[in-house]
Amino acid sequence: MHNYRLLLPAALLLSDLAIAHPVPLPNPHIPGYSFPESESQLMDWINQQTPANTRQIYRHGWGLWASLTAPSGQSEFDIPNVPVYLTWLTPAEVAALPSNPEQLKAQASTPRQLQLRVPRQFQRVPGFQEKLQAKKAELSAKANPSTSDMRDTSVFEMVAYDPAAAEFARKNQLFSKAELTKIYDAGNASIPAFPSNAVTIKPVYKLVSKANMIKGSSLYVMPAWPGTPKVTPDIEKNGFSEDKWPGCVYIDAKNPGKSKADRTDPSCSHPNASNTFALGDFIAYPVTADNVKQFQQLVQDQLKQSVEVGDALILMAMHVTTREITEWTWQTFFWTPNPAKPPLPGNRAAAAARPAQVAWPAAHYAMSIGYQMVAPNQPINGGKSVGQPVTVYNPYLESDFNAATFTAPPVNVGIYSPVSKRTFHATVGVQTNCMTCHSGASVQMDSKASAIGYSTNFYIPRNAPMFKGNLQTDFLWSIADDAK
Ligand code: HEC
Repeated sequence: MHNYRLLLPAALLLSDLAIAHPVPLPNPHIPGYSFPESESQLMDWINQQTPANTRQIYRHGWGLWASLTAPSGQSEFDIPNVPVYLTWLTPAEVAALPSNPEQLKAQASTPRQLQLRVPRQFQRVPGFQEKLQAKKAELSAKANPSTSDMRDTSVFEMVAYDPAAAEFARKNQLFSKAELTKIYDAGNASIPAFPSNAVTIKPVYKLVSKANMIKGSSLYVMPAWPGTPKVTPDIEKNGFSEDKWPGCVYIDAKNPGKSKADRTDPSCSHPNASNTFALGDFIAYPVTADNVKQFQQLVQDQLKQSVEVGDALILMAMHVTTREITEWTWQTFFWTPNPAKPPLPGNRAAAAARPAQVAWPAAHYAMSIGYQMVAPNQPINGGKSVGQPVTVYNPYLESDFNAATFTAPPVNVGIYSPVSKRTFHATVGVQTNCMTCHSGASVQMDSKASAIGYSTNFYIPRNAPMFKGNLQTDFLWSIADDAK
């Protein structure tokens, strides 16, 4: 059992508590990459769109990925030598950090729980969790389920703050509604800006368990992302959730190594060496006698599914944002069968720019990246929603968003193209831009003002009139959602 990794200024550290720290991003030693990169350098790359500058941005995204997934040398949740990102605290843990050092001792003996949950956006869909539970129950009751029935379409997520973001949130008590109200009442439009080295992430997992294995084998079955679909009336109505993705990929849960597989089985009936992956093709955490308790309750409570020794938690995707620039940098990673040729929203140029320092299995993930709302980039204030859309999203997190997810304000003004003289109107999750949606992150302070909803893909200035009566939370929705 490991204890809260308390995160405090050095002066407050109590040496008798044997407290370890969440680990900051290490230097991955990639030539041309540094963190935090200066805002002016990043803005030059963003504003002067050349192939060389685009490659610099790709390198920056991959540099973050290499350092997030690097070994930390620490144990967490009874898993030895976890990647750096797994040492970071969730918003709930940050909110619970005492501001008073006297309270440290009590809290230091509280064991940490891996705070996985069914993605919050799915929980908002009425009956979603119950349907998932029913599907799991039905599957375990079936005598001869088909392989395509076996496909596991459930995922878990968590949100975490790096040490700099966590310390800033703790110091300013940003998860306290009362503190946010004070900031607003003092005449501020926004919470104070996070420091440039602040990083937040949203990792997504699947549980490789016997419940989703072909009977009598060690082959676990799941769909794989097929690429950005054409938006149909069905997607507008229902989104493009995982159960709609065609085909199967298999994971041999008995193979901890690395496979040569690189494709999906479109028929879901021919598992073979080309479509059967190994656990070593994923950032994976085996469920052992030591750590089974960390997972058991969480999964049991949410999916009514049991977790056993021998199961494994695999990382499917991760959202990553950093405060290196005023509107944050946005990149997201998702597991894909053939990382050299990833489907959209990944792209081959980004894959080709992946440096060797991104080690296996981190190199099995595709990257979607965009540090701007529209191309060419517009200024933070005083710009226009014109140019080309910059579509950046994660199949595991945004693809299930249907048109009803997006509510005004802000009004969807679309993006006008002076070239085609047409206006692009994104309506669903598979057309979104991270920065556009996150720019709306705010807490409604004046009951006469409208709360800001989710937006798809267009330009929104920081000083948009819709923010009146709302306190901006510096692009972080978790502050808006979790402050109490
Ligand atoms: C439609 C709106 C929307 C889009 C698009 C979106 N997000 Fe988020 N994101 C949210 C919400 C809401 C939360 C907080 C809720 C939660 O805890 O899951 C969140 C949470 C996060 C977090 C955790 C820190 C925080 O802000 O609370 C990160 C990191 C993140 N998103 C990154 C991304 C990236 C990268 C993309 C694009 C690839 C993206 N998001 C696209 C709405 C969105």
